[in-house]
Amino acid sequence: MGGFLRRILAEKLERWELEILPGSYDVVGDIAVIRIGENLRHRIREIAEAIIQINKHVKTVLNQTSPVSGDLRLRRLEWVMGEKKTETIHREHGCLFKVDLERCYFSPRLSFERLRVARQATPSEVIVNMFAGVGCFSILIAKKAGACRVYSIDINPWAVKYAEENVRLNRVSRVVEPILGDARDVIEERLVGVADRVLMPLPERAYEYIDSAVESLRAGGGTIHYYDFVHASKGEDPIGKIEGKVGRKLSLLGLEFNVEFGRIVRTVGPRWFQVALDIHVRKKD
Ligand SMILES: C[S@@+](CC[C@H](N)C(=O)[O-])C[C@H]1O[C@@H](n2cnc3c(N)ncnc32)[C@H](O)[C@@H]1O
Repeated sequence: MGGFLRRILAEKLERWELEILPGSYDVVGDIAVIRIGENLRHRIREIAEAIIQINKHVKTVLNQTSPVSGDLRLRRLEWVMGEKKTETIHREHGCLFKVDLERCYFSPRLSFERLRVARQATPSEVIVNMFAGVGCFSILIAKKAGACRVYSIDINPWAVKYAEENVRLNRVSRVVEPILGDARDVIEERLVGVADRVLMPLPERAYEYIDSAVESLRAGGGTIHYYDFVHASKGEDPIGKIEGKVGRKLSLLGLEFNVEFGRIVRTVGPRWFQVALDIHVRKKD
């Protein structure tokens, strides 16, 4: 946790307790999410109090008690202090995202990545966001690029409900269409050959859906924003590893492609990385 918070807690916690204090916490709207395990549970109120003391707009502190898991990418949260709620409105790059943190996935840590992708879209584009959550990438693209159509798919009914509300909140109903369903089914049913750009922000399973992403690209091709997790030992290049993995799959599908950009989005564990690739795919007619 940040230096200022540590200084406040230094007066309240023992040295060994400070040493095992997590390195960070998230603030989503007016809710702070901490990850305090059993070993520091006896100090959870002091930690929550200090967070509220230095973040004047924080009204609620929740403790995340399970990892983000399952297809819906959800986590267990327990109330620690303040208002008893899990719903909030987060402001990011001039957009408002309403979200229930218990029922939908949301991470403020993807903020830069969302802006990076949104900056690439142009006003004439049709975009398919295959794993859209509460609509953050989709809405940001509509606001920043004024794309002509963004199909915003998610399999979680709660995420789609919030995406619909966020579309209204951000006044982008003419551009963004939230759709409930499995991305593969939705594409097969109504989005084959429509997209200039496809987003795949589900690193756990994006690889399985590459063929669907390609299917939704226009004849001629377009750009896929691909996400994956990778382990890279010392000396190994995480981005290169994912380029190899995806490249083999695209070649098997008989496609020509060019990886235009790659970056590490974040470190998710010891030597585990989340990687983003921007891939331009050419489709033969
Ligand atoms: C990591 S979250 C997406 C985050 C979102 N792009 C954002 O910026 O907040 C992945 C999302 O994919 C959804 N999902 C999982 N499997 C899916 C599938 N087969 N089809 C469509 N959505 C799916 C989950 O419900 C979850 O909301």
